[in-house]
Amino acid sequence: MRVLVIGGGGREHALAWRLLHSERVQTVFVAPGNGGTAQHEGMRNLALTDAAALADFAQAEKIALTVVGPEAPLADGVVDLFRARGLRIFGPTKAAAQLESSKAFSKAFMQRHGIPTARARAFSEAGEAHAYVDAEGAPIVIKADGLAAGKGVVVATTLAEAHAAIDDMLGANTLGVQHNVAGARVVIEEFMAGEEASFIVIADGQRVLALASSQDHKRVGDGDSGPNTGGMGAYSPAPIVTPNVHARVMQEIIQPTLAGMAREGMPFTGFLYAGLMIDAQGHPRTVEFNCRLGDPEAQVILMRLKSDLFEVLMHATEGTLDAVELQWDRRTALGVVMAAAGYPAAPRKGDAITGAATTATDDLVVFHAGTTLVDGRLRTSGGRVLCVTALGDSVRAAQSRAYDGVRAIHFDGAQWRSDIGHRALRH
Ligand code: AMP
Ligand code: GLY
Repeated sequence: MRVLVIGGGGREHALAWRLLHSERVQTVFVAPGNGGTAQHEGMRNLALTDAAALADFAQAEKIALTVVGPEAPLADGVVDLFRARGLRIFGPTKAAAQLESSKAFSKAFMQRHGIPTARARAFSEAGEAHAYVDAEGAPIVIKADGLAAGKGVVVATTLAEAHAAIDDMLGANTLGVQHNVAGARVVIEEFMAGEEASFIVIADGQRVLALASSQDHKRVGDGDSGPNTGGMGAYSPAPIVTPNVHARVMQEIIQPTLAGMAREGMPFTGFLYAGLMIDAQGHPRTVEFNCRLGDPEAQVILMRLKSDLFEVLMHATEGTLDAVELQWDRRTALGVVMAAAGYPAAPRKGDAITGAATTATDDLVVFHAGTTLVDGRLRTSGGRVLCVTALGDSVRAAQSRAYDGVRAIHFDGAQWRSDIGHRALRH
């Protein structure tokens, strides 16, 4: 079988890598892919991004299954287009993808269905937003409504920061948020204290299979300092997601979301990612929904998945997820992102990379993201360059193996956090 993965980051490299482990999969096309997928045996890059062109390709090449990595094509309706043409694709429709693409939609949805989350209100009028913030006080969270690649959120610890964020999001838009049709809008929400975790499931419209839990590291610097990024590292499992928390998340967040989306005529098929905030009492609330796998969460989760992902996703697209179960490697997976100089504000491109051969061992895989092959040589081409992912019998062992991998790789200006896994080590 031939499979198509849409996207070109570390998440898509990991998806392609795991799909290729299936006995039934010969080739995984990755569109557009990166320097890692270009070199990987069994993977082929495809210089296509347009949804109609991808559907033409899938039809002509008899692609058995297409899997969508990032949110942008989902929000643009790539799933609707493929399905209309009778092509099998795993991901949510444009309507269902609103759970991520519109924070205002997802907030209102959670409120309608009693799904635990922070109290919030949406504003498009700056004056009203400023007045609301003055009345609520700080800390308070200001979010741009629209796709922002994880950067459209300001956790304001002072009122001054909150006011500045409102002015920026409803005015200058220096974060470069892609607005929804309604235009610039902000969602202002109550600050939730606690520890975050990523809870991702595979959904077939009705049923779900929970993936292993994980935890991301969103800030660029050690000790969770500096600006937010797409994610600087992750590990799985996340000890904060105890069996009790897991059961509560399924019952209070995931099941009502699936049921609510189905009832509202937008059954959710695809990866559903609930970003959780878990308070000191183990009470989980939803920070946000994403309609896709996390990056770098996918790298650590898929490193631990022992089941045949192709089979599972075929069942998910058939609506027969009840026929499969997921098996997990008991070890911990930990991934360290190596980012380019200047990331996240202005990542530098074009630096030569050495030591990142993709030949994977059983317990160490280098997933590529912002890399490209120029005349057969690897160069940086984006902010997050590589995710060095390792398995170990403990968090400490996985961490030590991953950092050994990091130290064997070189490119000028490379930056990475040296404390990935610090929360797990505290538990
Ligand atoms: P989001 O894009 O909604 O995931 O927000 C990005 C990050 O901002 C989250 O991962 C949290 O660290 C933080 N955040 C978002 N909303 C809240 C909230 N209501 N309370 C506390 N932190 C939040
Ligand atoms: N790593 C966070 C995300 O993918 O949204």
